[in-house]
Amino acid sequence: MIYLDNAATTFPKPPSVYESVMKAMKVYGANPGRGSHAMAIEGARIIYETRELLAELFNLDDPLKVIFTFNATDSLNMAIKGILKPGGHVVTTQMEHNSVLRPIKEMEKNGIENTIVKCGPDGSLNPYDLEKAINKSTKLIVTTHVSNLTGTIFPVEEIGEICRAYKIPYLLDASQSAGVLTIDMKKLNISFLAVPGHKGLLGPQGTGALLINSDIEIKQLKEGGTGSQSSSMEHPDFYPDKLEAGTHNLPGIAGLNAGLKYILKRGTESIYSHEKKLLDIFITELKKNPKIIIYGPESLEYRSGVVPVNIEGMDSSEVANILDREYGIAVRPGLHCAPLAHKAIGTEKIGAVRFSLGPFNKRKDIRAAVKALNEIAAAGENTK
Ligand SMILES: Cc1ncc(COP(=O)(O)O)c(C=O)c1O
Repeated sequence: MIYLDNAATTFPKPPSVYESVMKAMKVYGANPGRGSHAMAIEGARIIYETRELLAELFNLDDPLKVIFTFNATDSLNMAIKGILKPGGHVVTTQMEHNSVLRPIKEMEKNGIENTIVKCGPDGSLNPYDLEKAINKSTKLIVTTHVSNLTGTIFPVEEIGEICRAYKIPYLLDASQSAGVLTIDMKKLNISFLAVPGHKGLLGPQGTGALLINSDIEIKQLKEGGTGSQSSSMEHPDFYPDKLEAGTHNLPGIAGLNAGLKYILKRGTESIYSHEKKLLDIFITELKKNPKIIIYGPESLEYRSGVVPVNIEGMDSSEVANILDREYGIAVRPGLHCAPLAHKAIGTEKIGAVRFSLGPFNKRKDIRAAVKALNEIAAAGENTK
């Protein structure tokens, strides 16, 4: 199988990730923080080391402000619902995933207003439009770093500057960029960073994190056991325990630990440069076929390794089925959990076939995908 569905979750993972998961389950699989024996201590050590690795990768000072979650959706809900209060206002954009749009929509029921800033037909955001949406009740700005539909890279530096100027916290959804693009939370003025562990960070599914670079309070959404202050019926009010009720996903975090070590060793610059080379070949080749419609920014400078396409006159699910059945190529068709983003690029009715690259894809994968698309387009033409 040629796997080009890395925007959904990365595959394969580095071998060290699988080994680390197995070791956590077979060698020291006790409950960290719930016992004082050697196995529990080893689990707690791995968890703390993983906080340190995340803090290092994203330049956050305090590893205790790295909160483990179960995916990016969990991190985004935690921040959006934990920060906003009735009477507040939040600014977000048209290119967001449902894991941003839906919590924001839900918060309308609690008297929290929102403004969704329109984006261009290539998925681009004009930071000036975002600035105009700010009002005196604005308590949070939430944007994606990279669109999961078009691969468009957002101007996060400018957005961070706007947030600094207006003293509004910035929540960045780095689901499609963490582990691929360099993210410096301090330099970019990111107050809260939501990341999945299972995409670019190369960890297992069921992992994610929220990194906190702010003194603004996040109200917890859950209370429960933390292994700390066990004599009290009140939930602890210090990080990370405040936001981490219940048993951790230790095997998942151990796998994420190995994924992070791989990324820190190889470097995000190297990973991005690898994906950009493949992206260049893919787009240059596809452009030669007038039957293939490519969405997203014209310039490679503004796009990551996510490429949505359609073949003229063909349904995206049909194309993806042929790719799977006849060519052994895994992609995602249809709508991509980002309804307003589809409107921005005009694919809300037809969807798109999304190809997404990962750090282990090779040139031959890209050549195979180009050949397959050309053949499918030609066969579609012949059956008309
Ligand atoms: C931009 C974006 N945000 C949020 C999410 C949700 O991530 P998760 O599935 O880890 O909750 C995704 C998943 O594809 C995404 O692409």
